[in-house]
Amino acid sequence: MEQLEKLFQNNSEWVKKKTAHDPEYFTRLSGEQHPEYLWFGCADSRVPANAVVGLEPGELFVHRNIANVCQPTDMSALSVLEFAVGVLKVKHVIVCGHYGCGGVKAAMGNQQIGLIDNWIRSIRDVYLAHKQELDAIADENERFDRLVELNVLQQVRNISHTSILQKAWEQDQSVWIHGWVYDLKTGMIKDLNCCISGPFEIDSVYRVTS
Ligand code: CO
Repeated sequence: MEQLEKLFQNNSEWVKKKTAHDPEYFTRLSGEQHPEYLWFGCADSRVPANAVVGLEPGELFVHRNIANVCQPTDMSALSVLEFAVGVLKVKHVIVCGHYGCGGVKAAMGNQQIGLIDNWIRSIRDVYLAHKQELDAIADENERFDRLVELNVLQQVRNISHTSILQKAWEQDQSVWIHGWVYDLKTGMIKDLNCCISGPFEIDSVYRVTS
């Protein structure tokens, strides 16, 4: 229980620090939120969303799951996406994967783990779609890094295919979807330069209009 006591201690110290020079900090923050970004990242404890991009509470709307996967049947992810884009009107949706991702690593192997095998199954589909490129990479770590990137690129596309984004674009709302990868070893973020900002960048197979 001592470990938990420490968390409460940390919490009151944090509150003291935040209100020392700004007594109205929490009162103001409790009023409303205006984040400009939705962070769609991995649940990995080493990739704390706000910390790695230096944003304060209220500035970043966050959804995290294992291996930053956006499946078209994931009600939790879709609800976050709809609220962020439709209600909060975020301008940027950032899919941020990370090198060394355990979920992606597991999808590269054949070891059965449990329920998670089903969650990461779609990453195997990403592997299959790029099998030729990936199998041509002799170094296993490099192949792993590349699959991390390809998974991010796929999730950027998956998000662009949702009715949520397509509806926003149809209503002339500006929303950009970005694909980034965080490097655990350096703390640096790499932009994969795969930004999607409108339905014209989506394959016609996935296009839906009202
Ligand atoms: Co991960």
